[in-house]
Amino acid sequence: MADHERLICPSGALVESGKGVRFEVEYFGEAGPAFVIRKNGKAYGYLNRCAHVAMELDWQEGVFFDSDGRDLLCSTHGAAYDPASGRCLGGPCNGSPLVRLRIQERDGMIYFTGFEDD
Ligand code: FES
Repeated sequence: MADHERLICPSGALVESGKGVRFEVEYFGEAGPAFVIRKNGKAYGYLNRCAHVAMELDWQEGVFFDSDGRDLLCSTHGAAYDPASGRCLGGPCNGSPLVRLRIQERDGMIYFTGFEDD
C-alpha cells in the first residue's frame, strides 16, 4: 500500500523512550491511529492498534513505553512489544507484532513514508 510522504513532527518532539506523537494514517482505505516514538536514538512508527484486540495502546495520550522506558506496553491487557521492531515480547499479543510504519528522519523532521511491508 503506497502512501505519500507526510511530515509528522519535528525531531525534537520525540524524546528517547519518552512520549510518542500520535497521527492518523490510511490503512486499507480507512483512517486509523498511528504513532512514532524514539528508541536508541532512532524513530519508529506503528499503527496504534494492539495485536491482541484492536485497541489503542497508550496509557494516557502519547504514553506507550513501560515505566522503565524499555518496551512498548499495551494499556488494556499488558502486551509488551519491542520498540525497534514491533515484535511481541510477551503477554496477550501471543507472538503477533504491531503493524510497522516506514519512518524517515532527516533535516530535523520526522516523516511517514508508508508501511514496512509495501
Ligand atoms: S488489547 Fe492490548 S493486550 Fe489486550
